[in-house]
Amino acid sequence: MIEKGKAAAPSRAGDACLLDEVSVGLKKPQKELPCKFFYDEKGSALFDRICELEEYYPTRTELDIMSRNVGRITESLGPEVLLIELGSGSSIKTHLLLDHLQQQAGYIPVDISAEHLEQSVNRLQADYPALPIVPLAADYTRPLDLPEWKGSYRRKVIYFPGSTVGNFTPEQARAFLIRMARIAGPGGGLLIGVDLKKDLNVLHAAYNDREGVTAAFNLNILAHLNRRLGLTFDLKQWSHQAFYNSVHGRIEMHLVSRVAQQVHVDGSTIHFAAGETILTEYSYKYSIREVARLVSGIFDVQRVWTDVKEYFSVQYLTVS
Ligand code: AVI
Repeated sequence: MIEKGKAAAPSRAGDACLLDEVSVGLKKPQKELPCKFFYDEKGSALFDRICELEEYYPTRTELDIMSRNVGRITESLGPEVLLIELGSGSSIKTHLLLDHLQQQAGYIPVDISAEHLEQSVNRLQADYPALPIVPLAADYTRPLDLPEWKGSYRRKVIYFPGSTVGNFTPEQARAFLIRMARIAGPGGGLLIGVDLKKDLNVLHAAYNDREGVTAAFNLNILAHLNRRLGLTFDLKQWSHQAFYNSVHGRIEMHLVSRVAQQVHVDGSTIHFAAGETILTEYSYKYSIREVARLVSGIFDVQRVWTDVKEYFSVQYLTVS
């Protein structure tokens, strides 16, 4: 049975809310769309392909860090952990953790897609028949009500891999971390994957792959909005752009309007000049010191694991 949180499966009221979000974003001086719109079925499949690309180092580097250090990581978390994963939890990393945790108390995967959850929970339950699993279909970027846990556990640990924290601005990230610290509670922890600052060419290539998968992923946001909310973006008139903004320490993904054009959204006409862009995603890159500053007063950094090139980090933080 999957518990439904706030903003789970799409509904008519939910879609009206999304339309409002889109309309507000497209009326800003720098037009923008929330990056959560990337992930319809096609977008999720394109993201899976991105994770396999030679240029996209984060996924395999994080997995490599996890595989090399899983014994030390689970030792830091300690026994009888109630593991709360943000994401549907079907990954190899989840299996690694569950295989090595001592006396796991239970597992709560949280994902916006009830369908993804159902599939991954069925698979996980077959692999770990004795593990209590209580999935929660919810948007973890909003306030979360975790299901009441009936069993015993020693500490709650939230697992947030993939450097998804980089898709928040630092202000949004701190607000998110405060909410996570409340959920983990006193003595609780956060195991988080954070992408690090590095050579600009490596960063540029990761978001401008030769095969054009990232470009297709970026453009798909418009196809998703057309289908889901009845908008009329002409995909042929937009192109992908991704660059590193070194002032802010972030990759910015934009869609560039090839011509002067307009789109009708929720009763308003939005005009785009030729060359004007819609911001679709930030992907912040941090130094290890900047992560400590980002979390300070909310979490204490206990351990940091990296790869030899220091491209990526996995960090274990405990509630301050
Ligand atoms: C999900 N997130 C951490 C990815 C990133 O690298 O910021 C999303 C992504 N965008 C383009 N490529 C991958």
